[in-house]
Amino acid sequence: MSEPMWWRGAVIYQVYPRSFYDANQDGVGDIQGIIAKLDYIASLGIDAIWVSPFFKSPMKDFGYDISDYRDIDPLFGNLADFDELVAKAHQKGIKIMIDQVLSHTSDQHAWFLESREDKTNDKADWYVWADAKEDGTPPNNWLSIFGGVAWQWEPRRQQYYLHNFLSSQPDLNFHNPEVRQAVLDNVEFWLKRGVDGFRLDAINFCFHDAQLRDNPSKPKELRQSIGFDEKNPYAYQYHYFNNTQDENLGFIEDIRSLLNQYPGTVALGEISSEDSLKTMSEYTQGNGRLHMGYSFDLLTEDFTAGYIRQVATSLEERVSDGWPCWSVSNHDVQRVITRWGKSQNAEHTPDLAKMLFALISSMRGSVCTYQGEELGLTEADIAYEDLQDPYGITFWPQFKGRDGCRTPHPWQRDAVNAGFSSVKPWLPVPAEHHGKSVESQEHNKDSVLNSFRHFTRWRKEFPALMYGDIEFVDSQEPVLAFVRTYQEQRLLVCFNLSASKQSLQLPTELTADATALTNHGLISATLTGESLTLPAFACFFATVK
Ligand code: BGC
Repeated sequence: MSEPMWWRGAVIYQVYPRSFYDANQDGVGDIQGIIAKLDYIASLGIDAIWVSPFFKSPMKDFGYDISDYRDIDPLFGNLADFDELVAKAHQKGIKIMIDQVLSHTSDQHAWFLESREDKTNDKADWYVWADAKEDGTPPNNWLSIFGGVAWQWEPRRQQYYLHNFLSSQPDLNFHNPEVRQAVLDNVEFWLKRGVDGFRLDAINFCFHDAQLRDNPSKPKELRQSIGFDEKNPYAYQYHYFNNTQDENLGFIEDIRSLLNQYPGTVALGEISSEDSLKTMSEYTQGNGRLHMGYSFDLLTEDFTAGYIRQVATSLEERVSDGWPCWSVSNHDVQRVITRWGKSQNAEHTPDLAKMLFALISSMRGSVCTYQGEELGLTEADIAYEDLQDPYGITFWPQFKGRDGCRTPHPWQRDAVNAGFSSVKPWLPVPAEHHGKSVESQEHNKDSVLNSFRHFTRWRKEFPALMYGDIEFVDSQEPVLAFVRTYQEQRLLVCFNLSASKQSLQLPTELTADATALTNHGLISATLTGESLTLPAFACFFATVK
């Protein structure tokens, strides 16, 4: 594979810097903390790191509210630290991808401070401003994901401004070409500093409907849209007008043209729309748009072979030459072993954690894996008084927000705060995470950590697993089975998603010349004739004709 395609089949390790390692001992992780742990990251056999935001920010949304796109928040370090991170990661063969939050800024960004002053300043049209209706209420019915209406009254201008997220995250007006250019210039700032790519936050939220039309309401029975259930009124609407507008495609093409000037750099878009898989296929089509997209479709509670197959098939049917990136975990959702393991009573079962990583990294696409998944970390239960996430504070106690997956990375079993920091961390380290620390798993060859390390390297020996096409094989719940094909190589791949033994009859054409591959380090299945027996959470890999 030539260098510019490094991202195809890559494993991207997401570092949430606040919670990775606290080098300066102030309770919050930092860039020097990532540098200190680069050997650990390299030991995982991953290809790239995606670092969540570290830019200057009032931290109302923990860095996803940026007040200066070209500087590092002092909490995390400075630009010299960042340059050092890029250089040292590159020396170890690790690519650096950074988050770019383009659709909105912080309300403390200089652009917004100017824009809110009056209707005539230079930045007056840089955000989405609108007059109140005759009765003083907001211009339309749009809602904020984080609760309440999506409009905030600004007394200086006597107008409302749009915020799809917190009211401290005003939406930029992408209909204004000056805004688009300024945003692209900020992106280029980081390209010039040597980053290898971007994770583009909420990339389908850049444009809004210029006519500000009301979103239609959604019938009650359909309110289980991805990520937002009926606990959040955001699920009561079809979001046809506040995001995913046609004009967005043109902007994505502008981003790609910019990246093309920096060969080998890659754009991975976070996509959450009314039909995310359709949007993802549009956004990754051809060579002029995003390189990869990821949706929330596997960030849900649905852990069945049928559901995973349906998501992957539906994407394959539409994505044609586009390239997906699979994600079952990130800093916004409940940790996967808790989310998916609870249906099997297997929240604490290392074999499930091992299998989950093998499963998503065996499907066609690249993978984003979130720090702590390689340890099989469970979701932390955070007490109300320790909550930090404004989303959780608004919706508590029905929904506790995102703090439970953002707790500090546990490095040592017996150290205070599991070795993350010697001072009180911004979120507590749950007691049970000490036993799952890096140190606790390091010397156990069967640990989740060592299985992860083994599998990332083993997988690279099979071009079919890295780049191959995918075709699903008929199987009953709870077994997921598919074939990956690349040039002459064909691999049959099966997973038992349950805590009980399963049997599967495979078609003769697959079993006739099958040679089982056993060195993957996971629980193995046994093939006898056409019958495959899979112990709990077992995997089966075989070369087939
Ligand atoms: C990020 C969230 C963030 C939101 C607003 C997302 O999708 O992943 O953490 O709160 O965008 O920027």
